[in-house]
Amino acid sequence: MADQFDLIVIGSGPGGYVCAIRAAQLGMKVACVEKRATLGGTCLNVGCIPSKALLQSSESFDDAAHHMADHGILIGEVKLDLARMQARKADVVGANTKGVEFLFKTNQVTWLKGTGVITAPGKVSVDGTENEAKNIVIATGSESMPLPGVDVDEKTIVTSTGALELDKVPEHLVVIGGGVIGLELGSVWGRLGSKITVIEFLDRIIPGNDGEIAKNFQRVLEKQGFTFKLGHKVTGATKTDAGISLTVEPAKGGDVETITADVVLLAIGRRAYTEGLGLAAIGVETDPRGRVVTNGHFATNVAGIYAIGDVIAGPMLAHKAEDEGVALAEILAGQHGHVNYGVIPGVIYTWPEVASVGKTEEELKAEGVEYAVGKFPFTANGRARAMGMTDGFVKILADKRTDRLLGCHILGPDAGTLIAEVATAMEFGASSEDVARICHAHPTLSEVVKEAALAVDGRALHI
Ligand code: FAD
Ligand code: NAI
Repeated sequence: MADQFDLIVIGSGPGGYVCAIRAAQLGMKVACVEKRATLGGTCLNVGCIPSKALLQSSESFDDAAHHMADHGILIGEVKLDLARMQARKADVVGANTKGVEFLFKTNQVTWLKGTGVITAPGKVSVDGTENEAKNIVIATGSESMPLPGVDVDEKTIVTSTGALELDKVPEHLVVIGGGVIGLELGSVWGRLGSKITVIEFLDRIIPGNDGEIAKNFQRVLEKQGFTFKLGHKVTGATKTDAGISLTVEPAKGGDVETITADVVLLAIGRRAYTEGLGLAAIGVETDPRGRVVTNGHFATNVAGIYAIGDVIAGPMLAHKAEDEGVALAEILAGQHGHVNYGVIPGVIYTWPEVASVGKTEEELKAEGVEYAVGKFPFTANGRARAMGMTDGFVKILADKRTDRLLGCHILGPDAGTLIAEVATAMEFGASSEDVARICHAHPTLSEVVKEAALAVDGRALHI
């Protein structure tokens, strides 16, 4: 007889594994299907965690090579041991994926190793073995978007997965796509010595983020050695003796030029991954972008089948997937799980970091919302000066009439940590006045958030 479960989750990324654990906490008998050799999905294996490990290591390298001397610390010649850096990254990934395996054991979640196919509502076959469950969750994540004419081999033409595994620092890395992956991984290899050229289709980088932040961010990256070719597209990539030859042309048409790189990183977005799941056969609806269509309770159009994470609409972020996993498990247990999509922070882990939550100025304008802006630069903050990290600013957007916080955008040191305060405030429906009146420790970077909140009403103190 087939094994019986209350819930089978397909995919063990941050959406799937968190959903499985929360459902088990709530008393369900849970299995999670994962075809990869280790748990944790894209995020732990080839995404968030390895990229942050390399960002950390390359930042330390860059500090040692270029910034320690400013503090009076003379190191001498700084050498790179890339093999060791990569081995450290592998250890960090291993500790995290093993951690999920441990959590599955302690929560009694069964790992069904292999590829899951939904053969009928309530039935999941894993490498040919039938399993049954009252409910099924699709948490199969996403994959890198291909580009016709640019054939990925993960050695010289790579996606993020290959870019995390390079065993030599490329002399010239050309990044196709000025988004999050391109700028994070471009930063890693740029710090380690590569010349970085970013070819971006639009006339700006990091679309979706606040335009003013994007402009300033681009300037800072250019100071670090990035070259941007905005408003251009790559139409083909050919391997030659001199490297990869890319044909590049203006997005709006014009003269074609050739750019040669020794490694090309293709990072033009990700798309939902549902290959081989059997969705068409059982009639699960997908949208034109291949994403599984769900209602406000993560239910698909087929009873008993749900979906969360990158495979459904919304930002492709690990914490969004996790929160959906928790909410869905609670809904299945008869509780009132909920995700507030208006307050999902986004962070780009470059130097300096970029962090945002809520609406951008462009969105507020398009919606016809009247708003007030408060800005404060890190140059006017004592702690930032002491750290020698004064690039960037905090920008707070509040409703002109009610002063309620509508959004916050930060370019600066530790922006990813600073944004949490504003996200918390927004969850509580706070005004900029509320944030301005909170006592912030001195000297900390968080005082820049307080000053930006004061600036909404024109009363910043230190400028
Ligand atoms: P995934 O993590 O993609 O997991 C899906 C899992 O399902 C995979 O392990 C896959 O093997 C498995 N699977 C698929 N089909 C089947 C099947 N039929 N049977 C069995 N198993 C199957 N997000 C952030 O918030 N912060 C970051 O810093 C960040 N950095 C990133 C860096 C990179 C380089 C990349 C590529 C992504 C990054 N992301 C980051 C995005 C983040 O990784 C995703 O949003 C997140 O992993 C989505 O989680 P998920 O559970 O929906 O799917
Ligand atoms: P992205 O959507 O962030 O950026 C893709 C960029 O490529 C855009 O600027 C787009 O205009 C451009 N583009 C599209 N087609 C192009 C073409 N043909 N030629 C040139 N440029 C083109 O996607 P990216 O960087 O691939 O990342 C995918 C997703 O992974 C992110 O959107 C994010 O959800 C997630 N991620 C999150 C991270 C984080 O939270 N720190 C880190 C890395 C990834």
